[in-house]
Amino acid sequence: MSNQAEFYQELLGQTKALISNESDIIANMANVSALLFERLAEVNWVGFYRLVGDELVLGPFQGKVACLRIPLGQGVCGTCALTGEVQRIADVHQFDGHIACDASSNAELVVPVKVAGKVVAILDIDSTALARFDQQDEQGIMSIVKIFEQNITAQNDTKR
Ligand code: SME
Repeated sequence: MSNQAEFYQELLGQTKALISNESDIIANMANVSALLFERLAEVNWVGFYRLVGDELVLGPFQGKVACLRIPLGQGVCGTCALTGEVQRIADVHQFDGHIACDASSNAELVVPVKVAGKVVAILDIDSTALARFDQQDEQGIMSIVKIFEQNITAQNDTKR
């Protein structure tokens, strides 16, 4: 296994351990953003936005103060929420409509959090390093988000 694959394997285990016994989604978002901010190299912002109506609303995060609300379809985050597709952007300044919350951000990875096939939130990770995120980062972060989605689904099932 490559170093990066091992790194994400370990991060996955830590995420499972962190959230498996907690049912509160906001608390889990808070700890997962803290874990990723601490463990990922060269990141300056990690956090969640929740989809509320047709807007993304700022959730738990680590980093500088950020935009509170992002309309669906706008910026990298809004595009991810609208399309339901991962946005891995090497240079955000080349992305039409990019919203610069922190002017020092250059690269961005945004992964949708889906429940029953619908986007309920997005996880946004920013870096000052151009092209910071590669295919392995994308896969690694997607597998972490999957754990998150399973946790939310399990909570919904117990409520039924
Ligand atoms: N750059 C994002 C906005 C969110 S912040 O980076 C925290 C975007 O274009 O959607």
